[in-house]
Amino acid sequence: MNAKKYRPFPQPAMQTREWPSKRIEKAPIWCSVDLRDGNQALIDPMGIETKLAYFDLLVKIGFKEIEICFPSASDTEFDFCRRLIEENHIPEDVTIQVLCQAREHLIRRTMDAIKWAPHVIFHIYNSTSPAQRKYTFGKSKEEIIQIAVEGVKCIKECMKDLSEDERKRIRLEYSPESFSMTEIDYAIEICEAVKKEWGTSKDNKIIFNLPTTVECYTANVYADSIEYFAKHITDRENVIISTHCHNDRGTGVASCELGLLAGADRVEGCLFGNGERTGNLDIVTVALNMFSEGVDPELDFSDLPEIADAYQEFTKMDISPRSPYAGGLAYTALSGGHQDAIAKGLAARAKMAEDSVWDVPYLLIDPKDIGRKYEGIIRINSQSGKGGASFILEHNYGYSIPKAMQPAIGDLIKSESDKAQRELKPEEILGFFEHQWLLNKEKLSIVDFASTQLEGNKDSGAPEHVSCRGVINYAGKQISIGGSGNGPLDAFVSSLAKTELPKFNIVAFHEHSIGQGSDTSAIAYVQIAREDGKKIWGVGKSSNVGRAGIEAVVSALNQ
Ligand code: KIV
Ligand code: ZN
Repeated sequence: MNAKKYRPFPQPAMQTREWPSKRIEKAPIWCSVDLRDGNQALIDPMGIETKLAYFDLLVKIGFKEIEICFPSASDTEFDFCRRLIEENHIPEDVTIQVLCQAREHLIRRTMDAIKWAPHVIFHIYNSTSPAQRKYTFGKSKEEIIQIAVEGVKCIKECMKDLSEDERKRIRLEYSPESFSMTEIDYAIEICEAVKKEWGTSKDNKIIFNLPTTVECYTANVYADSIEYFAKHITDRENVIISTHCHNDRGTGVASCELGLLAGADRVEGCLFGNGERTGNLDIVTVALNMFSEGVDPELDFSDLPEIADAYQEFTKMDISPRSPYAGGLAYTALSGGHQDAIAKGLAARAKMAEDSVWDVPYLLIDPKDIGRKYEGIIRINSQSGKGGASFILEHNYGYSIPKAMQPAIGDLIKSESDKAQRELKPEEILGFFEHQWLLNKEKLSIVDFASTQLEGNKDSGAPEHVSCRGVINYAGKQISIGGSGNGPLDAFVSSLAKTELPKFNIVAFHEHSIGQGSDTSAIAYVQIAREDGKKIWGVGKSSNVGRAGIEAVVSALNQ
């Protein structure tokens, strides 16, 4: 790899810069270029019906400016534009944008395409970088300026035949294409010439779109270029500065964000970063980044999965599982430490007011805000920590596992995941848990059991005295048992103490109910300490609260 072949692109000469200490405090003007830049970059460009559905999706999200096509490029593009206009698909508050090279015959064809459109941005461009001037056009700087100015003249000429009202509906956008590789003072010079030819006013602001047609420097250089442009272009109040970032170096989002800090008013980009080569800037990410800092992006991504599905269906492109916000794994923690912190953060949050400031560890935003779910946030594999499986059991199935028991469940699930050599699904985790603690009656089971209240009452608080009798099956033998205690559980434990079963004490006991209505059961978790010092957990489930504790002891003795 010969790095000598490359060189850094020049950075505007600036002694001071203001953008590094700025914050993004409001939504920019968003312009979706999905149907143009995005579409022209697809292996199989979308057909008209698909583009119509995509347009409706963009409107639903809240885009007010949408670049719909390059009408002079093909009949499909032209016809799409006509259908949008003639079939009244464009809401009153939405402006369509059409792209066109600064060439007369293309401009005339584009003018035909936009006839009767309610509001239009006529977007013309020509390439301005040294390499394009030299190789593509073989023209001098002055001649390149002339191409742009002639383009504007041609648009004005075509507009002469329009009524005053129709003229007002057309705004101009000019892009010095390959701005990122163009000398900044020259880019300003060409924009000044375009502005002079078009003429601007408070009601007729011109859009200068400054693309990183090829992203060729770090995002701070783009920010410098935008700040420099904003400070040197004349008539700034009648100029809208637009970013149009590509992603060749993987920093399209950063360039756009720093461009906004530097004073840009507008953002062009595509959903999920679709677009030429490595894509255009991902508008979803920029908008949700703002959202994550408490700024309303004024785009509605509250059902991002639905938008992502539609996008994938329309474009036949995939969204990477690691994609910010939309990726399948964006809210999945596989590491134990992360799972534990998320579980604790979510549990704390469950006790807070709904709109309290979000601070759950490892989750930048509340997945619910964009239509994602907590279920499946934690997936369990052999790398997962002790708390992960218990989190699943609690959040998916209602078992509030005592903290001290969680490592035992974690160990079981880890070894099962090791055996399977893959992540376990929630239903598998439940299955292993039930098999180990609720269904395991290999050594010990109760054949028959009854208790009698001799004195006191659990509800009134008066001390109880309970006797019990029954039959158990232990290691293949049936054994009659009987005893008494201060409740059914105590009576059962004392009756076992008279048998050949290993001696033990109960050292921890937890219970809660699970399910609702007639489906409610009691769950008991019991930890016993054996004479050899070993502590073992058991779990019991029954419609009868007292019986759940007894089943939990049986479960512990079966471990
Ligand atoms: O990336 C680019 O330079 C473009 C222009 C046509 C604006 O898409
Ligand atoms: Zn582009």
